[in-house]
Formats: sequence, structure tokens, C-alpha cells
Amino acid sequence: MATFKSLPGFREFYPEDCAIRNFIFSRWRDAAGRFNFLEWDAPALEPLELFTEKSGEEIVSQLFNFEDKGGRKVSLRPEMTPSLARLIAARAGSLRRPIKWFAIGENYRYEKQQRGRLRAFYQYNADIFGEAGCSADAEIIALCVESLCAFGLSSEDFCIRLSDRTLWFLFLESLGIADEATAVKVLAVVDKLERVAHDGLIEMMTAALAGTSLDAAETLAKVREFVALGDFAALEKYFDGNEKLAARLADWRNLLALLAALGVGSFIRIDLTIVRGLAYYTGFVFEAFQLVGEGRALAGGGRYDKLVKKLGGPDMPAVGFGMGDVTLRNLLEQQHLLPQIEDVPDFYAIILGEENRAEALADVADLRRFGLRVEYAFKDGKFGKLIQAAEQAGARYALIYGTNELAHGVVKVRDTQERREIAFPRESLADTLFGILQTGLPVIEEPHCHGDGSCDHCTCGKKEAR
Ligand code: HAM
Repeated sequence: MATFKSLPGFREFYPEDCAIRNFIFSRWRDAAGRFNFLEWDAPALEPLELFTEKSGEEIVSQLFNFEDKGGRKVSLRPEMTPSLARLIAARAGSLRRPIKWFAIGENYRYEKQQRGRLRAFYQYNADIFGEAGCSADAEIIALCVESLCAFGLSSEDFCIRLSDRTLWFLFLESLGIADEATAVKVLAVVDKLERVAHDGLIEMMTAALAGTSLDAAETLAKVREFVALGDFAALEKYFDGNEKLAARLADWRNLLALLAALGVGSFIRIDLTIVRGLAYYTGFVFEAFQLVGEGRALAGGGRYDKLVKKLGGPDMPAVGFGMGDVTLRNLLEQQHLLPQIEDVPDFYAIILGEENRAEALADVADLRRFGLRVEYAFKDGKFGKLIQAAEQAGARYALIYGTNELAHGVVKVRDTQERREIAFPRESLADTLFGILQTGLPVIEEPHCHGDGSCDHCTCGKKEAR
């Protein structure tokens, strides 16, 4: 018989995985909320053109695209940024600025599957539109940091590698590469500095510099010298006397001061090897990078001031980041930062006798409407078996509905851990149960047991015999 497997790079989520996914999403939503970002969404399937025109070459080679039954060329989204820029472009005139929006959605990239990289992954995006100054870059980077700290991660676990495509363009201009198309090609080589061997880089650089008189080996050597500048003082010294670059360094100073003021200065490392693979970035770019275990990118982003206009909107400065769930979950697992998620009922109704089912279910339905999480067995069974089922379901409390209880208008609440029970009136049961969830089952002293089961809260066992 054929066995059906999910596609390579696509995950299935059993309930325990969904619980972790929900935990991650809720921390992301909470962090975005604290920074006053509003949530948006868009379709997962988009016109192919949106990505072939607006994403980088690398992403375009990874598209999950096809022709739909109406003959339209479409693609699953590899990222959310082009859709977002289209939404903003369409309402640019009426949206109050700065626009601070976030989203969580599944993205699809036909990548070679490996640890940390899948073909379907969730991404949390946060973006600010309508603010060209460094304040927006600082706000976005601070949100990126705080969104990771929300899981208990610290500056020992990750850092923000900060770089600047504007500075890169100015630097390349100083080398004689003034043409933007050539500069973008050179940056694609820089993007591979850490991953490709020297000979491969020379080959790529030669291709990038085709049509110029520049020497690939010499340019690569200058690029290596540039990326070796690891702190702000070194940058200042390197560019001493170059006015255009000095002006850009003033923006750097401003950004670093804002980041320090927002309390995330200790996470920042200047790292000019970061240029980002996506074509649309224009200014400061950054990656959140894992420092423990395998070094992987947890998030990436930067400024992209021209994309909204390219999608038919007005000039609209923009800056944002995307954070994936795959590397983050791996890191949280490794650092033991995933909580034990207790996904269990609050109460388990034990229905003794089919003739009592209707009345018991009426209570169950009411309690659920009040917001309590209540479970019960679909089939009749013996008391011991049902108690066991309640314990296995993880319910701290069982609600016992026997003929005797119903006849007296009560329900017994049993603490499955302490193995003691107390009868409470069925009237206002929800209030009682909310109280028990807060403070536990009350401890009732019974100094004067009548010995005949006549007292309401009797635990001597004779009540059953009454
Ligand atoms: P990106 O660097 O392509 O940027 O992706 C951002 C993050 O998404 C990565 O750092 C990684 O955590 C996750 N990610 C990317 N590809 C995969 C994959 N195949 N499997 C698992 N996780 C992955 C962008 O997508 C930009 N649109 C971000 C952005 C938003 N820039 C401005 N606003």
C-alpha cells in the first residue's frame, strides 16, 4: 500500500508542536504589541510578478510558482515584504504615519533542506513606513532584540550584526564603482564572503566587475580590508577626510546613541560582512545572529526606501525585519527555554450512570460557556476507571455526578492529587469552580462528624451509604 508522506521541507504539527508554535507566536505578538505595532495579513498565494520584480535573485530562484487553472502565473510567497509594500502603496494617502505594522505568516522557499532551513517556515515581520530618520531604524532593531529577549534569550545568546548598504555604496564609489547595478553585483559577492572559498570569490568578483576596468583580486582585497573594520572608531579612522562618508558616519553615531538609549546597545556588533541577499535594501541592514551552538541567523532586516514607489505608491521610506520560527525554536530548545506547556482540562466530569448524563452535560455546557475548560468521558464506566481517565487527562479536579449528588442538588469536586473531595451546590457552580482554580479545594475541618453521613461536606464515606 502506498504510504503518504508530507513533502520534503514541510512540517506537520502534532498538538505538542502546535502548542510550541502558539507559544512562540504569542511572545512575538506580545512584544510587537508593547511597541505599539498593529497586525496585518495578506494572501499566501500572490501573482508571480510581485516577487520576480521585487525580491532578490536568490529568492526568485527558490520560488514555488505555477500556473493556476485560469492561466495566471502565481507563486506561494517566499517573504511578506513585497505584499506589505503593495498594501501600503494602495492606502499610502490615508494611513497615519509613522505606520508600524507586524505580521506572522507562513512563507515558502524551494531551498535545499538543512538544519534551520526548510521549504515552509513561519516568519514574524515588523516594519515601519513613513520615517526616513534613524529613529525608525532604532525602533525596529530594538523590537527585534526585545522580541528575542521575550523568550529569555540574552546578549550571551545572540547579537545584532549591524551594517549599512549606504556606506557600502559610498565605499564602492570610492573604489571607482559608481554604477548601482555593478555595486549590487559586488554586494552579492560580499554576501558570500563567509561561505565561498577564495577562488570562487575571485570568479564571482570577475563576473560582477565585467564591463569595468577594475581588477577582481585587488577589489576583493580592498573589500576584505573594509569588512575587517570591526568597530566605530576604526570606521571613523578609515574614512578620515572623506566628506560624504563622514556625513554617513554621523547617521551611524545617531543610530548607535538611540540604540543605547533604548537599552539594546550591548547587543550591537558592527559587522560589514552583512549586506543582505535581498535586492531592495537601501540603508542600514542587520541580522540577529545566534552566538551559542551553530551560528545561524535568527532574523534579518534593514531599510528599503524605494520598494513602495516601485509598487506604484508614493516615495515612502521603510525599514523592517523578518524573524523565522525554525532557528528560533532550535535555539530555545538548546537553551532549555521552552516551557513545559500544560495543555490540560481544568475539570473532568465523572458521570456515574447513563441516566445522569443529560443533567451532567447541562452543567458541562454551562461551565464551558463561562470559560472553564471541561472534559468528560463519552462512555459510561466504573468510578475507578473514570477517575483514572480524569488523572490521565491531566485534570487537577474531577466533578462527580452520581445519582446521590444529583438528588441533593450538589456536585462533588475531587482534587485528583490530594485525593479528597467536597460537595458543593450545583447552583452557582461556575463561581465556586473559578474560586477553586485560584485557591485550591478548601480545607474543611470536620470536628463533629455525625457518623451517619448527614453533614454536607462529609468525607467519612458514610454519606454514600445514606
Ligand atoms: P530573510 O533574511 O530572507 O529576510 O529572512 C528572515 C529570516 O527568516 C531569516 O533570518 C530566517 O530566520 C528566516 N528564514 C528565511 N528563510 C528560511 C528558510 N528557508 N527556513 C527557515 N527559516 C528561514 C526576509 O525575508 C525579509 N523579507 C525580511 C524583512 C522584512 N525585511 C524588511 N522587512
